[in-house]
Amino acid sequence: MKLWGGRFTKPTNELVDEYTASISFDKKLAQYDIQGSLAHVEMLAKCEIIPVEDAEAIKKGLKIVAEKIEAGEAELTEANEDIHMNVEKLLIDEVGAVGGKLHTGRSRNDQVALDMRLYLRDSLVTLVELLTKVQGALLTQAKANLDTILPGYTHLQRAQPVLFAHHMMAYVSMFERDVERLSDSFKRVNRSPLGAGALAGTTFPIDRHDVAEKLNFDGVVENSLDAVSDRDFVVEFLSNASLTIMHLSRLSEELVQWSSAEFNFVELDDAFCTGSSMMPQKKNPDVAELVRGKTGRVYGNLIGMLTTLKGLPIAYNKDMQEDKEGMFDTMETLKGALALFAPMIETMEVKKDNMYAAVADDFSNATDLADYLVNKDLPFREAHAVVGQVVLHCIQENIYLLDLSLTDFQSFSELIDADIYDILSPKAVVNARDVVGGTAKNRVQDQMVQAENRLQESKTWIEIHEEKVNVLKK
Ligand code: ARG
Repeated sequence: MKLWGGRFTKPTNELVDEYTASISFDKKLAQYDIQGSLAHVEMLAKCEIIPVEDAEAIKKGLKIVAEKIEAGEAELTEANEDIHMNVEKLLIDEVGAVGGKLHTGRSRNDQVALDMRLYLRDSLVTLVELLTKVQGALLTQAKANLDTILPGYTHLQRAQPVLFAHHMMAYVSMFERDVERLSDSFKRVNRSPLGAGALAGTTFPIDRHDVAEKLNFDGVVENSLDAVSDRDFVVEFLSNASLTIMHLSRLSEELVQWSSAEFNFVELDDAFCTGSSMMPQKKNPDVAELVRGKTGRVYGNLIGMLTTLKGLPIAYNKDMQEDKEGMFDTMETLKGALALFAPMIETMEVKKDNMYAAVADDFSNATDLADYLVNKDLPFREAHAVVGQVVLHCIQENIYLLDLSLTDFQSFSELIDADIYDILSPKAVVNARDVVGGTAKNRVQDQMVQAENRLQESKTWIEIHEEKVNVLKK
């Protein structure tokens, strides 16, 4: 007999059981579900809705059920549909009819919304922590490469030289915003929907704030219809996750390029690469490629959730059961990628000489020749045209700017003097970009100091919030 079987005269079709059950994936929520039930039942006793002895028996039973599930000793069945009813059934098997009092003043609709929030807030803290580790690895590479110069690209054409540290810091900044978004979303996730009942609240004199406090929420989701029917916090997470993996995917693409023989700028550690079953010489950047590939499913989960929600009338609809797999999948995909990225970046060998060669044998100092002429009062547009002529000449002669003699230079413009050779050296070109956020070494060092400070702030955030979500586990 189903827990809700009272008004039915026939058993459910087996295919229906199979099709509608969520236990195969929502069993992941078991421990959160039980945490929520413990808080709920304590509140029921405190508000004198059920006797204290009954609450104690239920609590004891729930703890046993939690242990059994944890140890893999509990039988979770499709016939009991989802984690909520499986737990309730196991509880009743454990403590008898008194277990049936647990669901007083509660519905699976507020219960599932609660479980989702408990799971997500927990995972958000882990994600932020993993992100800070990736930032830490990028900072380590930045520190080691404050004198490493490589071409900066636009249109994947060599443009102007930059410090490799500067390039690493660009990603540190992107991940900083990801940390900011994920940690900011925590406060919207961390609200208790419990007490909303099926949709309208409950007739029992419950204390929603008491439950919220017990579970370390920052407050309640007030409107009961909203509390059970919105999953905007899931969408927000999927959206933030999409941005984060988009950043990871761009970095992946660069690692793939840089590891190729054509670039030969970095060598990823053997531990983070794989070989070919046929070609003995191959060493492939599979992790980076796979992160780039998995970005597709993370975007897919976002679009899937948005689409599932768009036509739903409030309040709960069974469609909403589809909120889970995408969220779990995105969470695991992102955690997996971040956990690999930190050590992969940290152990990557940076081929400074190859990077430098790519800068030296190139015209990426051409802007600086134009700027030089501008400093001698030639209008920029004219300077641009002159340098265009110089570059064309060099291309025809198969040489670079620094190969020109002073006489050659002066045949294009009388304004050029011998100091041009210092000005056009890659190091000078880099250090000339001495503006806030520019690639000059001192400016990159400034960025690094500020990033380190903000990383410390993130670490403090993690400590405080870890404490918040862990209280229940003690
Ligand atoms: N398994 C369901 C879900 O994940 C739980 C809520 C079911 N509520 C209901 N009224 N059928 O959404």
